[in-house]
Amino acid sequence: MSHIAIYPGSFDPITLGHLDIIQRSLELVDELIIAVGVNPSKTSFFSIDERTEMVRESVAALPSDKREAVRVEAFDGLLVHFAQQKKAQTIIRGLRAVSDFEYEFQMAAMNRKLHASLETLFLMASDHTQFIASRYVKEIARMQGDVSQFVTPAVQARIQGKLQEESVA
Ligand code: PNS
Repeated sequence: MSHIAIYPGSFDPITLGHLDIIQRSLELVDELIIAVGVNPSKTSFFSIDERTEMVRESVAALPSDKREAVRVEAFDGLLVHFAQQKKAQTIIRGLRAVSDFEYEFQMAAMNRKLHASLETLFLMASDHTQFIASRYVKEIARMQGDVSQFVTPAVQARIQGKLQEESVA
């Protein structure tokens, strides 16, 4: 039976930290579905379509043998329902600092209550991506800081475009 995993997140926008988790997950599973979702407790900067497109563009840059094992899909509603629909056995989440732990622990426990056979697998962020968070990337870009070490050039251009749109609106 092939091992299908879901890597869910807001990806608002996708960072080099997310890409690191994606590449490392691909060493562990047969199929990875990157699920771009809605976090009801966050207001997103990019629309779900924009976030999904950015993830697709980033995945397109992976080596072809890796790319074939990845699908990118937007979802709304509960993650456990999406996972069931996709016949996924595992949810993958990245863990950075201790501060991520409580939120992640609670979410994994709730998801497990809702769907007992669905395991959440945590990958520790690599040391070169430990500190990267989409929230700070947006904040730095908004204040004219350089975010090129944190996101791909395509995502950086998207952020600039979005900020320009905001400034003329
Ligand atoms: O990148 P994020 O914002 O930490 O991702 C959070 C996300 C989208 C994975 C989470 O909010 C989610 O699973 N949303 C779907 C709704 C859901 O299943 N909620 C119950 C969580 S216990």
